[in-house]
Amino acid sequence: MLRVAVCVSGGGTNLQHILDRIADGTVKNAQVVRVICNNPGAYALERAKKAGVEAVCVSPKSFASRDDFNKALLAGLKACSPDLVVLAGFLVAIPEEVILAFPNRIINIHPSLIPSFCGKGYYGLHVHEKVLERGVKVTGATVHFVDTGLDSGPILLQKAVEVKEGDTPEVLQKRVMEQAEWILLPEAISLIAQGRVVVEGRKTRILPEA
Ligand code: GAR
Repeated sequence: MLRVAVCVSGGGTNLQHILDRIADGTVKNAQVVRVICNNPGAYALERAKKAGVEAVCVSPKSFASRDDFNKALLAGLKACSPDLVVLAGFLVAIPEEVILAFPNRIINIHPSLIPSFCGKGYYGLHVHEKVLERGVKVTGATVHFVDTGLDSGPILLQKAVEVKEGDTPEVLQKRVMEQAEWILLPEAISLIAQGRVVVEGRKTRILPEA
């Protein structure tokens, strides 16, 4: 059984889809053992509680320094012995010590087709604002492994989503979530739980079903 820790910051719709796909048996051999949230008011915490999953708040505001927060985040993760850490809308820069503690065992969902519209300043709704500003016709979402760079780790899954005339950032965000994010993230966990993902340098390879 793959032990999964999920880190969240806000609404937690991606978390909800992970929980739902595990509950309905679409994702097999995986279990969410802990949800860690940096924001005490986040609805994601409620979602975890409703699903009977342990939810822990680790807020930078509760610590005297960033270093203390980083240590607490690492301790909070290590305490539940995860095989996989999933960043499901975790809008905090992951400290290097956490990345180094879980090499190729942290995945992130990003709401664009990396390497477009990613890196510094590209998170949440801002990504969709930039997509609309640039006038691209196709966007999407990416699940990638987390390395010490920003949105630069090996890409695991991507899905394209059409940009439509008259889209607002909110409308586009919803379409990207519905058509890409909510599908890709559970699928990524399922593939890893089945032992079908191989990371080779900057790339990944998905092995055929056994
Ligand atoms: C999602 O759109 C996710 O892709 C994005 O934050 C949102 C969280 O929504 N993450 C990033 O922008 C990371 N760079 P949720 O809390 O409803 O899952």
